[in-house]
Parts: sequence; structure tokens; C-alpha cells
Amino acid sequence: MLLFIGRFHVLLVHLPIGMLVLLATLEVLARFPRFKRADASAGFILALAAPITLLTAACGWLLSLGGGYPENLLEWHKWLGTATAAGCILSAILYQQRKITAYRISLFVTVAILTAAGHLGGSLTHGRDYLIRYAPAPLKNLLGLAVTPKATAVSASRNTSNLPVFSGVIAPLLANKCVTCHGPDKSKGGLRLDSFAAMQQGGDDGLIFDPDVPAQSELLRRILLPLDDDDHMPPQGKSQLTTNELALLKWWVETGTPVTNLVSELNPPPAVRAILNAQTSPK
Ligand code: HEC
Repeated sequence: MLLFIGRFHVLLVHLPIGMLVLLATLEVLARFPRFKRADASAGFILALAAPITLLTAACGWLLSLGGGYPENLLEWHKWLGTATAAGCILSAILYQQRKITAYRISLFVTVAILTAAGHLGGSLTHGRDYLIRYAPAPLKNLLGLAVTPKATAVSASRNTSNLPVFSGVIAPLLANKCVTCHGPDKSKGGLRLDSFAAMQQGGDDGLIFDPDVPAQSELLRRILLPLDDDDHMPPQGKSQLTTNELALLKWWVETGTPVTNLVSELNPPPAVRAILNAQTSPK
């Protein structure tokens, strides 16, 4: 129930953003003689914005209880979001007391905090580099972000066939899609997927590999279930495995979960080899 309410955070959050940015815009416009009455409805907007911002922050707290987010990012987002709600309420009080200069300062500080909170929120739901992933290279350089090397350069320098299958292929994949929930910070279902030794321990429901019938391993069962099945992994709404990643995991489990063998030694079938050859960043 709490999570049901919590999820409204993702919807509600757009209202405070719109209202606070609108308030700030009105204040700026009101500086120009032509729009000097622009801030006339600020009181009304604040009366709406304060309770809605508070409600949004409260839903956010509920949502965070569900977990599944990178801890550090979540902490920052949570506190900046709370600060946004506090800033909005403070602004409303100052406005009501006709302390207009103080109100403006409070409002603009709140919008700055909101911007940071919003950016982190976006990073939480879409992944850290979502916004600028497809930015043109010169802009990325300007922002001091590493430009993704050309695919050819990567596969030449990190040809997966010379890598140990677990550390070179499987571990990076699990790190991307599973370890936020099954790692050192959190081990949902009592399961850690951040090392092979940990994987061998299994989870609350027992082992995730079936040495006798690898194809029936719990790990495979979970990732192959339909998306809307409650047992499906990663859970619905989280970043899913791509078809290629699924094929790689399936091949690895069905091959008997080799660890230190080089990929080339395992003689993968053509379909798997094609995926491995096309892999651009086995991080
Ligand atoms: C957003 C969090 C999250 C992500 C990401 C995630 N899982 Fe899970 N996983 C859970 C939760 C919660 C459970 C426990 C509830 C359940 O059993 O469904 C679980 C349980 C499991 C179990 C059963 C463990 C046991 O013994 O009960 C397996 C196997 C599993 N996950 C595999 C994976 C794999 C493989 C990935 C990546 C492809 C993955 N999970 C990604 C949240 C996550």
C-alpha cells in the first residue's frame, strides 16, 4: 500500500517543478515595466505549490522505502527533495508576511535546489548519463565527460574472446542490471550477484544454479519469465536485460557456469559469438 502511494511521486513531482519555475519566471518578468503585474497571482500559486510540494516529498519518502536505487544517489535526491519542500513552504510564509525581498531570495534558492534534486531524480529513474548520452561529442568534451570510444577501437583492444568468461562477459552484465539490488549494499531475496562465490551461495529460496539440469536453474527461470510475472528479474519497471544479454546469460548457465575459462576456449555457438564480437563495451 505504501509503495502504491509512493509511486505517485513520479507523477506528482512535475507539479512542483512547473509551479516553482513559473513563480521564478513571474518574478523575473515583473522586473520589466511591461510585465510589472506578472507576479500578481504569486500568492495563489504559492497556496497550491506549498501543499503539493509537501505531498510530493512525502510520496518520495514512501517510494524510497521500496529500495532498488543506488544508495548514494538516493540519499542526495531524498535530502535535496526535502529541502525543496521546506524551501517552498518558507517562501510561501515569507510571501504571506509580505517580506517580498526575502521571499524572492528564498524562491530562487529553492529553484536551484529543485534543479539539483530533479536532475538526481532523473538519474535515479533513467540512469546517470541518460540526459547527455546522445549529446554531440564537442558538448560532451565541454562538460568534461568521456566520449564513448568508437566501437571498433574497443573491440580491438578488448576482444572478448581473450577474456575469462565470468570477469570479462558475465560479471559486467550482472553489475549493470542486477547488482544494485543483489550486491554489497542490498541483497534482495538474500542473493548477491557481485561475485561468482556469492552466486554459488544462492538466495533465500536456495541455489540459483542447477548443476544437474543447468537449463532449469532458478537464475534462468527468473530472467526468462514473462515481464509481468511477479518473479520476473529484473523486476518490471527496472532496466531490463537486452535480448543479447539474455542470450549470453543463457549460454553461460547452460554451459555449466564456467568462470576462468577464456571465451574462445568455450567455443561459443555462432549466435553467441556474433553477440560477443559485436559487444562494444565489456566494461
Ligand atoms: C530493482 C531490484 C532488483 C533488480 C535490479 C534485480 N532483482 Fe532479483 N530480486 C529482487 C527482489 C526484491 C527479490 C526477492 C523477491 C523475489 O523473490 O522475487 C529478487 C530475487 C531474485 C532471485 C531469487 C533469489 C531467491 O533465492 O529468492 C533471483 C535468482 C534473482 N533475483 C535474479 C536477478 C537477476 C539475474 C537480476 C539481473 C538480471 C536481478 N535479479 C535484478 C530485486 C531485484
